[in-house]
This record gives sequence, C-alpha cells and structure tokens, in this order.
Amino acid sequence: MASFTFLFHLLITIILHVFLAATPSSSLSQQQLSIPTHFLDFAKKPETFDWMVKIRRKIHECPELVYEEYKTSELIRAELDKLGISYKHPVAKTGVIGYIGTGNAPFVALRADMDALPMQEMVEWEHKSKVPGKMHACGHDAHVSMLLGAAKILKHHEKDLQGSVVLVFQPAEEGSAGAKKVIEAGALKNAGGIFGLHVAPNIRVGEVGSRSGTLMAATGFVEATITGKGGHAAIPQHSIDPILAASNVILSLQHLISRESDPLDSQVVTVTKFQGGDAFNVIPDSVTLGGTFRAFSKQSFLQLRQRIDQVIIAQAAVQRCNATVNFLEEEKPFHPPTINDGKLHKHFQDVAGNLLGANKVIEVQPVMSSEDFSFYQEVIPGYLFRLGMQNESNERLHSLHSPYFTVNEDALPYGAALHASLAATYISS
Ligand SMILES: *[C@@H]1O[C@H](CO)[C@@H](O)[C@H](O)[C@H]1NC(C)=O
Ligand SMILES: *[C@@H]1O[C@H](CO)[C@@H](O)[C@H](O)[C@H]1NC(C)=O
Repeated sequence: MASFTFLFHLLITIILHVFLAATPSSSLSQQQLSIPTHFLDFAKKPETFDWMVKIRRKIHECPELVYEEYKTSELIRAELDKLGISYKHPVAKTGVIGYIGTGNAPFVALRADMDALPMQEMVEWEHKSKVPGKMHACGHDAHVSMLLGAAKILKHHEKDLQGSVVLVFQPAEEGSAGAKKVIEAGALKNAGGIFGLHVAPNIRVGEVGSRSGTLMAATGFVEATITGKGGHAAIPQHSIDPILAASNVILSLQHLISRESDPLDSQVVTVTKFQGGDAFNVIPDSVTLGGTFRAFSKQSFLQLRQRIDQVIIAQAAVQRCNATVNFLEEEKPFHPPTINDGKLHKHFQDVAGNLLGANKVIEVQPVMSSEDFSFYQEVIPGYLFRLGMQNESNERLHSLHSPYFTVNEDALPYGAALHASLAATYISS
C-alpha cells in the first residue's frame, strides 16, 4: 500500500516535470516533497525502528576505536547482505561503501562514522559498553544504525530512485581523519554531493539544526619541547630554567588571539598540557607543552599556525632556551573548517521543513569544535546537520564525549528518514 502511494506520487511528479520542463525551477515539487513524510512513516514502523534500536545497542556494547572498527564493519556488512545491498570493503581499512539505486548518475553520498572514544562509560544500563575504557560517547553507534535505517528505506523504494545513493560507513572520525582516507580510496569520485548528520543533545527530538556556510572550525594540535639546562633549584644561576620559559610561552600564545586576530573572526588557542620536572628541588632539563588551536577560515588558521611556531621558538629564546615545535600532522591531521554548501542548505530546508515542519528546522550558531566531514566538503559540496535528541520532558541530556552521554533512541527514525529523503529528492531534482 505504502509503496503504491509512493509510486503514484512519483508518477504525478514525472508528469508535472514534463509539463513544467519549460519553466525549470530549482525548488522541489510538492510531489517530491511528499517523499520525506512517507519515508518517516516507514522508519517509525516497529519493523524498522526496533531493528535500528537493536543494531545501535549491539554496536554500543562493543565500541571500537579509530581504525579498529572490525566488528562494527562486520555487522554493517552482514546487515547490507541481508538487505541485498552491494558494497565495497575494505575501504580505508574498516570502511564499507554501499550502493543503492540505478547504478548510474546522479550520485549522492550519505555518511556515518563508526568509531568510539577511549573513555569509560559511567551510565549503568542493560547495554552498557562491555569493553573497559571504551565507549560510544559521541553517538556514532546511532549514526551507523540510522544510515542502515536509511539503506533499508531506500532499498525498499529502489525501483523509484532516479539515480544512485552511496552509503559511506567511515572509520576514525575522532581526530584521525578517516574521511580523508575514504576520499583517497576514491569512494566518492562520482558523488555530486554528500550529507551527514550528528546527534545533538541540546535540540529536541523531531527538530534539526544547521546553517549555510561555516558550521564548525578548522582544528590543529601542537606539541612543543622547551629545552634549558637542569640543575639544583637553590642555584638557579647555574641552570637555564625551562619552566619559566615555558610559562612565558603560554602567556605569549594567549596574546595571539587578543592582539593579532580580528575580534570578529573567532579563533581559539588553548594550552592543555604542561609536563616538566617531578622533584621539588630540581630544575628540569626540559618542559613539554601541548594544546590545540582553531579558526573558522583556512587563511586565519594557517596564519595562527605560523605565529604559534614563531612565538614558541622566539619566546623560549628570550630565556636562553631552545624549542622544537611539532604540529603532529601524522597522528592528528589538521581538520579544515566545516563549511555547508548554500545550495544543499536550501535543499535541506525544503526536505527537512516538509518532513518536520518549517518551524522545526533551526538555524544554529557555529561552534569551535571540528568534524572530519570537512574533508569531504573540500572535494564535493557537503552538508552536515544536527539531529535533535532531547525529549518532551526537556530533561537535560549529557554532552557529547561525557562518560554519562546517552542517546535518545526516539531520534533514530528521524535520522534515517532524513538521510533517505535528502538523498532520494537530491537525485530526482
Ligand atoms: C640551543 O641550541 C644551540 C645550537 O644547537 C646550542 O648551542 C645551545 O647549547 C642550546 N641551548 C640549550 C639551552 O639547549
Ligand atoms: C527522555 O529521555 C531520557 C533520556 O533518553 C529518558 O531517560 C526519559 O525516560 C525520557 N522521558 C520521556 C518522557 O520520554
């Protein structure tokens, strides 16, 4: 029945398209916009919803860190097999790339990240992480289950698709740039656009948030070793004190934002690491500092990076110390800013507005955290949005990366339906 309604709508769409061909419009037709509500009904059916919940809990119990997502990857492939969806594996070590649709252009990609975090879950519940010191505290378990949900919806309506959907289950979002490896593997070479979502504890279920343009910051990490000459704390004149030099380095770094950057161009420098000696009466030979820096444009980011390098070396030299600066490009690659494509923003507003109601599509402020989704956006138009999880009780959910983080599973059908509708309407418009 549902499938008949969909076909009927599609037929009308095609007829309208033929009639309207003379006056092309970038907006989606009413008929195309009926796809979202239809897909949401499908996603809310117990058959789909319970299945997504089960998958999410299974992944939650068995969290795997960056580039070690072997069991998660295996589970995804098993479900794709059951759905009759073909895929490529391994891509970027543990990644899986699935294909639904005609096999021909246009292609659109949907992305979910698979990795967990190195932290101990503190939530006591039936499906708590079974791996000590590892936890899905960023909702990637839910992201995978929602993309599988979207796969199920799209596969069910495959004959109606007017192009191809590429499912990207990627490894290593948490600081290790798995997206970069997925791109290098050529997985997106046909895709005209890519959509991704992230669960949001501070937006209500049934609502979504995003914006056109810059959504998240470019991020880099830095580690520096300040070397002096150790000695007895009571005879400072015979030493070169790296503790004092490193302290001055930190103060000078903090002046970069306040004195050198445009106050209207948000940037952050935070020193998070200071490791020196371990005795009360000994000046150590060296101090290691570390931290992170962020900016909303690549240009500001590169400028900041250059000044951090200069300031550390020069400020250490003021106190007769030498410094080496390491931007950890291997272990913690720079992440570009997450910049949402304007045309995809319009598409998202149309589709999400139709699915949820225009007043449920919220404009959010940019934040200084980062996302490796930005790597995709460097090569093709991309769009990342936040999916609300807060329920009616308005109970405050714990933030991402908290050991008390929980996922409100009521959000799963919305994520699955949005993914599927964004893709289906994209390839038919
Ligand atoms: C700093 O490097 C120079 C050149 O290698 C060296 O002569 C000097 O001893 C070093 N100073 C410290 C405090 O390590
Ligand atoms: C709201 O969500 C929280 C956390 O997921 C849950 O514990 C609570 O029971 C939910 N309340 C309602 C009214 O659904």
